[in-house]
Amino acid sequence: MARPASWHHGTVRLRTLVPVTAGLGAAAVGYATVIERNWFALRRYDVPVLPPGSAPLRVLHISDAHLTPGRRRLMAWVRSLDELDPHLVINTGDSISHPQSVPCFLDALGPLLDRPGVFVLGSNDMYAPEPHNPARYLTGPSSRWRIRKEPDLPWEKLRDDLTAAGWLDLNNQRGRLTVGGLDIALAGVHDAHVKRDRYERVAGQADPSADLRIGVMHSPEPRLLDRFAADGYDFLLAGHTHGGQLCLPFYGALVTNCGIERERVRGLHRHPADGQAWLHVSAGLGTSPWAPARFACRPEASLLTLTPRESR
Ligand SMILES: [Fe+2]
Repeated sequence: MARPASWHHGTVRLRTLVPVTAGLGAAAVGYATVIERNWFALRRYDVPVLPPGSAPLRVLHISDAHLTPGRRRLMAWVRSLDELDPHLVINTGDSISHPQSVPCFLDALGPLLDRPGVFVLGSNDMYAPEPHNPARYLTGPSSRWRIRKEPDLPWEKLRDDLTAAGWLDLNNQRGRLTVGGLDIALAGVHDAHVKRDRYERVAGQADPSADLRIGVMHSPEPRLLDRFAADGYDFLLAGHTHGGQLCLPFYGALVTNCGIERERVRGLHRHPADGQAWLHVSAGLGTSPWAPARFACRPEASLLTLTPRESR
């Protein structure tokens, strides 16, 4: 019996469409997991935040390496960043994702460890990653998920090894550094995402006599950014968002995984959005081993060249 023409054409279309769609899907997954995930980008920004007349200060911002021992390309790329000759390295956390990763992370930093550096920790430095349905990220920040009680990654070794190399631990602490001839007052908080931030321990006016005041955190939560800005910190740095990690071309991040809005999920902005302080959010170097893909959101580190602000 002859079939209706429309049925026949529909079947042909479906027979073509299914393999083409499946092929495109497989290509996108391959691209996101193999190519873009290892296609590291160096972002460069000038930040006019220094006293008039100061010489430029190069700050290297790294974040969210989520290092596992097999990620040799990531390690080699981080090590190569020493060639940028930064005066100061700022690491905003989620450095490791595996019990054996601390020596690998130190090895990746290599000569950068001999430079002045500061750091805070992120939740992934403390808790080994678990498999999640990625769709959960679309329903709200992962801070609403259950927080495990006992950390199972060697965050103390990470902290101690970085501190032993001379880097400043800014987890709920203040610090002070002189780099490039500039007196810098710093404060940081531990990860708000797992409720370890204790802003009250660093609260109070940042020293107005310092040349620069820097606030450091893992997750750019507006309530923390507000407090740093109100206390007079000129320059705020955070990571955590992965820039959205899986983005839509010409649209950007679908989610930020924290309280900040999509428009400031990555890059250099002001805080408040129309305010005085500068905010840099790093899209990060890595991914959770359980979601090893990036799309329209290359892994990155940032060279932030601090320059004199315009005199008022
Ligand atoms: Fe992260």
